Amino acid sequence: MDFSEKLEKYADEFNLILNRFCDGLHCQPKILADSLKYSLQIGGKRVRPAMMFAAGELLGVERGKIENFALALELIHTYSLIHDDLPEMDNDDFRRGKPSNHKVFGAGNAILAGDGLLNTAYSILLAECRKGAEYVSAAEFICDCAGIYGMIAGQSADLLYEKIENCNEEILGFIYENKTAKMLTAPLVVPAILSGGKYYSELKLFGSSFGSLFQLTDDILDVEGNFSTLGKSIGKDSQEGKCTAVKLFGLDGAKLRADVLYDKCIKILEGIEGDTDFFKQLVHFMLTRES
Ligand code: IPE
Ligand code: IPE
Ligand code: MG
Ligand code: MG
Ligand code: MG
Repeated sequence: MDFSEKLEKYADEFNLILNRFCDGLHCQPKILADSLKYSLQIGGKRVRPAMMFAAGELLGVERGKIENFALALELIHTYSLIHDDLPEMDNDDFRRGKPSNHKVFGAGNAILAGDGLLNTAYSILLAECRKGAEYVSAAEFICDCAGIYGMIAGQSADLLYEKIENCNEEILGFIYENKTAKMLTAPLVVPAILSGGKYYSELKLFGSSFGSLFQLTDDILDVEGNFSTLGKSIGKDSQEGKCTAVKLFGLDGAKLRADVLYDKCIKILEGIEGDTDFFKQLVHFMLTRES
């Protein structure tokens, strides 16, 4: 099975879990359930669940132990996208190839959809905590990655440095690490914790470099990607005056940094025994991606 087939297989397997979750949503009023399902089911690459499944296989952790963590993480990720697109944040009209949640349901309902997804993710994580101490640690790790010392901090800095000229490499590093890399470290570290700590440090380090590479290519695609493959508007970062690698280093400088991060990711993976081919190819996909 080649890389894209494997990524698709993981995404399909995850979508079964997600669809079961969506089928079980019966909150009222109906618009609330509809708005949650809309953003969850219009698409998305499912990179985070795929990474969690692949890390589980690498470390010998049963799929059944990590499925609910993958679900909670994707709910949190989706909530972050709904809020990220709001007029008061990035003001993006499209997401995953469709009108953004607030364009369909209005800003008030989009805020509530995001809140609802975050709340539900925490309920799922709390239920996992009943299973034992390592599940508590795994849940805590996700909360830390998503919270005020993680993704929220990154989003806050992203807003703070909008249209501010003194943005620099250190600030950019903070933004990348927190708004993006932490949520891409969680799917690797959760299986590491559940395996009793196997390759915990290596996977954490890998998540950090991989997450920065992910955001770097996201910023590059905002300049030279296209709407039909990316499923979101192009040129928004410069319109909003975002602090990005492209703004700081130019397109060529950003690409050069992506190459450096690519090498760093591969090097870290070489320090891990076992079959890391999927991850190596994922890094390559991230460097060369169009979606
Ligand atoms: C988009 O994440 C937000 C960033 C961190 C850049 P993804 O590119 O993983 O979005 P989906 O889930 O595939 O829509
Ligand atoms: C957002 O980064 C990261 C999140 C935590 C949602 P971006 O604002 O660059 O993501 P896109 O380009 O809208 O997907
Ligand atoms: Mg943003
Ligand atoms: Mg955005
Ligand atoms: Mg972006």
